Amino acid sequence: MHKIIEKTYLQDIVVRMVFEAPEIARKRKAGQFVVLMIDDKGERIPLTIVDSDSEKGTLTIIFQIVGKTTTCLAQLSAGDYIKHVLGPLGHPTEVENFGTSVCVGGGVGVGVVYPIAAALKKKGNKVISIIGARTKDILILEEEMGKVSDKLLVATDDGSYGFHGFVSAVLQNLIDSGEKIDRVFAIGPVPMMRVICNVTKPYNIKTIVSLNPIMVDATGMCGACRVSVGGRTKFGCVDGPEFDGHEVDFGLLMTRLRMYCDQEKQSMDMCRCGENGK
Ligand SMILES: Cc1cc2nc3c(=O)[nH]c(=O)nc-3n(C[C@H](O)[C@H](O)[C@H](O)COP(=O)(O)OP(=O)(O)OC[C@H]3O[C@@H](n4cnc5c(N)ncnc54)[C@H](O)[C@@H]3O)c2cc1C
Ligand code: FES
Repeated sequence: MHKIIEKTYLQDIVVRMVFEAPEIARKRKAGQFVVLMIDDKGERIPLTIVDSDSEKGTLTIIFQIVGKTTTCLAQLSAGDYIKHVLGPLGHPTEVENFGTSVCVGGGVGVGVVYPIAAALKKKGNKVISIIGARTKDILILEEEMGKVSDKLLVATDDGSYGFHGFVSAVLQNLIDSGEKIDRVFAIGPVPMMRVICNVTKPYNIKTIVSLNPIMVDATGMCGACRVSVGGRTKFGCVDGPEFDGHEVDFGLLMTRLRMYCDQEKQSMDMCRCGENGK
């Protein structure tokens, strides 16, 4: 049982939650994730560890409410418990002093890229971060990203704040300005990661993406999280979640992410968590 210490809404559908998980807090590294189950009958969902405090024994997650389990998780409050938390899972991010590293985050992906930017900064990289959202009201972690970056660039699709357009255009402008970029980390919606990879490929800038395939066991046994990287089958949970973006088959990833849309909708329609808190 994992006691929830804090819950705050970063915006309407994005929640930051801090809960007890002392063993995981001691071991986890940037880029890793947990799989949690709210109760014994619940679905297992993977969420990135955004931060941890080894002294307090806590983990921080940031999640977007998209379906049944994230809706039910958001119903819980400080003092409630999450039944099972498994982790840390996945390979940690390869963190070296690459020189200049650009961290690109879109939507809730800003929460996922934040610990990577922090680790790269600690390792001595010049960190340039580009964060984006559809509109100003749903932009998250601007202040936190500013603290771990040498330069922070913000974009909104509707131009309500920062650059008017996509984070990929900001990255292209940065390249055009002559900035020498040694590595890019891009995390966000699949189409965003795909476009960022298309921008960096002609310049041969190694680009790491964090993939979000559907996961079930998260131990490499079930094959649910199968992705194709460089023409070879990989499992997101044990081989990833980070991969060389120039090698990823994003089309296959998108198709597989949509596989259970009907069941997910049905499950959401039957969801009673708003009524009984489960
Ligand atoms: C390694 C990894 C790290 C992730 N980190 C974050 C994070 O930090 N913050 C965040 O908001 N989201 C994160 N996700 C996505 C998150 O797991 C899904 O949004 C969540 O499982 C949705 O569950 P649901 O029941 O609320 O929605 P559902 O209605 O069941 O599904 C909505 C959509 O979420 C995805 N999804 C559903 N079930 C799973 C599953 N078991 N595993 C993976 N994706 C699923 C599918 O694309 C689906 O179409 C991560 C995914 C992976 C693989
Ligand atoms: S989730 Fe089952 S193999 Fe990765």
